[in-house]
Parts: sequence; structure tokens; C-alpha cells
Amino acid sequence: MTTIAETWGVHEAQFWLRDEFPADPVRFDAETGMWNVYGHAEALKTLSDPKMFSSDTTRLIPKEISPDKDLFVEGNLLQMDPPDHKKLRTLVSHAFTPKVVADLEPRIAALTNELLDAVDGADSMELVTHLAYPLPVIVIAELLGIPASDRDLFKEWVDTLLRNSQQRSLIKQTEADKKAAEETSAQVKNLVNYLSEHVDDRRRNPREDLLTKLVEAEVDGTKLTQNEVVNFANVLLLAGHITTTMLLGNTVLCLDSHPDEYRRVREDRALLPATIEESLRFLSPFALVARATTTEVELGGQTIPANSMLGIWVAAANRDPRTFTEPGVFDPARTHNPHLAFGRGIHFCIGAPLARLEGKTALNILLDRFPDLRTDPAVPPSFIPSPHMTGVNELRLLLKP
Ligand code: HEM
Repeated sequence: MTTIAETWGVHEAQFWLRDEFPADPVRFDAETGMWNVYGHAEALKTLSDPKMFSSDTTRLIPKEISPDKDLFVEGNLLQMDPPDHKKLRTLVSHAFTPKVVADLEPRIAALTNELLDAVDGADSMELVTHLAYPLPVIVIAELLGIPASDRDLFKEWVDTLLRNSQQRSLIKQTEADKKAAEETSAQVKNLVNYLSEHVDDRRRNPREDLLTKLVEAEVDGTKLTQNEVVNFANVLLLAGHITTTMLLGNTVLCLDSHPDEYRRVREDRALLPATIEESLRFLSPFALVARATTTEVELGGQTIPANSMLGIWVAAANRDPRTFTEPGVFDPARTHNPHLAFGRGIHFCIGAPLARLEGKTALNILLDRFPDLRTDPAVPPSFIPSPHMTGVNELRLLLKP
């Protein structure tokens, strides 16, 4: 049987997509100086214990390998540990209440329809350009209060970040690594400068948007610093769109390549939420998260020293045969699907309800408007060129019977 990796040509480092699973769920990589965690139970353990497995991983990256690393840490929720993490997370959770997210449904539906109007009557469309990229980026830009019309700019920055996101060594740096790190750093600075200007503006001209809420918010009687507001907005802007873009593209691809499941979901839309969860497991957009050990730990039969960098491959854990029956089969009807695509524990994705809502709303409308939707056999899909992500980059679809 050909695996999806062979059919679609995904990144060669993502061996789990070739239906391979290592006998040792935790492995040291002497090339990168990192411990790779592939097992589901082991990944769950690391994500659930912030005391032993810290999210403040930048301290382990040598300054010569990432000279600007400290610039982007302050206010970056993803890199914070308790108790600071809790303060910022509580604050931001007020902006992402279930009601705030549910109220976005009509706007998400209207945007999807508007974007699809542009291809009405056409023979084909490229899913990412026409829908999967613009939809989530407009939603998150509107929430934050930055101009959604700047989205081509964000795309340019994000594409550079993704292109340069490869497994880099903590021990040695090649010339190519150096160049990639410089390019990444320049693009992050672009994003930071861009957001800083908007944050400054909100201090002068408050509005009804998330940036103003962040500027005005108080945590334990103190306001967030400029860096905290900007870096947090940065995380939201980045995490808030590229992952959902991948989710939309991946789900269409999964359905297209599984005709029985496709027919079932077309006929019964109540199956969409479970289909989205299975797509998240089968092709996990955010393939890798990082942690640093704070003490010596036993994990997956290995003894890992304190202050080690761990790469937790949630995309591999989501295909662990010890947890999932027939992990290489796309089965939206599976009854047990404890996937880790949104992480687990205190850092569980804050945007998960929004991503799920965007996925359900957009896919429903797409299937309603284009009942004959299928991939174009003449144009194979392409994937984001990074092992850290699993996501369709380009997906040409035929729209007519
Ligand atoms: C955290 C995945 C959509 C904002 C995370 C984490 C994962 C993840 C794996 C945990 C990282 C860790 O433990 O280190 C995804 C996927 C998405 C998605 C697969 C879409 C399919 C979104 C959206 C937003 C968002 C739409 C914003 C609106 C965040 C934030 C965090 C986070 C702020 C940090 C939470 C914390 O550290 O407490 N996401 N995400 N994500 N995500 Fe998402």
C-alpha cells in the first residue's frame, strides 16, 4: 500500500507519514543536541508537567546561534512558565471566551462566502490562495484590530519564517543556518515594528479591539509592558492564522483522497467536527513543540539530563500505534481520538475553539457551494517545506462536474 507520504511528497523528515514508528519513543540526536520525543504517552507526560518540562527553551539556545533570542520572549505566552504564564493566560482568556468565539460565526460565514464569490463560475480554484489563507488571517486581524488589507505583507513574513524553519543544531551552526537565522530575525523584527506602531496608536486612540484591551489590561495591578503587548499580539497573529490555513487545506485533501468518508460527510454535515479532529490527528499542522528539562528525568526508558532541549513531535505522537488503532488510516469515525494537535496541559491552544469553528463553518459552505469539488489530478498538492509543520501550501481544486 502506498502511504500518503509517497503519494503527496511531504517532508522527508516526517517519517511517521510513511507509516513508520520508532521502537524507541524517545531518542537523543547527537547532530542537533536535542532529545526527540515521538511516543504519545511520553509527549503527554512532558506537556502535562511544566515543573519538569519548562517552555522557556530559549535559555538553552546559545547566544551565537540566536543573537536576538531575548527580544521576542517577553510576553510570548508559548515560552512562559507558571506563575507568569497563568497571569497572561488568564488575561487573554477573557478575550477568547466561548461567547466571543461563537459570536464570530456569522462573520466567518460571510467572509467565506465573499471569498468564494471570487471563484463563482470558475472551473477551478487554488484553495490556499482563495480561501484557506485569507479567511483565518482576516478573522485574527479583525479581532486584533489591525488592517486585514495588510495580509499580503504578513504572508511574505510568514513564508520566510516557514522556509527557514528547519531542525537546527544547538551545537554547531552552518553558514546556511546562519543565513536562515538572520532572515528569520529580520522578518520577526518587521512584524514587531509593524505591531508596535499599532500598539502606540491604540494608546493614543483606544478602540473596540483586542490590541486596545491588551494595552489597557491590568495583571495584578500592573499593566503589560510595550514588549509584552507586542510579542503577545505577534504570537496571536502568527499562531492564529497559518495553523488554521493548514487545517482547512489538509482536511479537504484528506476527504478528497478518501471518497467514502467524503461522501458520508457531504451527506451528513454532523460528521464534520469529528472529521476535523481526525484531520488534526492524521496531518497535525503544528508538528513540533519544544520543552527544556529543569531536572534529570526518566522518559521512555531514557535518562535525560537537566537543561536538555526536547523536541516533542506531536504529529508523530498522533500516529503512535500504542495509542491509536491503525494510525495510518484516516478514520473520522474512530471512537478514541486523544490527539495532541492542540497540545495539552497549561499551554493547550487558546485558539482551538476558533480554529474548530473556522474549519466547520468554512468547510460546510465550501461543500454546499461546490458539491463536485475535487483535487485537480494534473496539479499535485504541495506542502510547506518545513518538518515542523504539516500543511498544504497549494491545492488546486476542480469545481465543476
Ligand atoms: C498554543 C496548535 C490555532 C493561538 C498552541 C499549541 C499548539 C497549537 C500545539 C501548544 C504549544 C505548546 O504547548 O508549546 C494549533 C493548531 C491550530 C491553532 C493546530 C489550528 C488548527 C490557533 C488560533 C489561535 C492560536 C486560531 C489564536 C487565535 C495560540 C496561542 C497559544 C497556542 C496564543 C499559546 C497558549 C499558551 O501558551 O498558553 N496551539 N493552534 N492557535 N495557540 Fe494554537
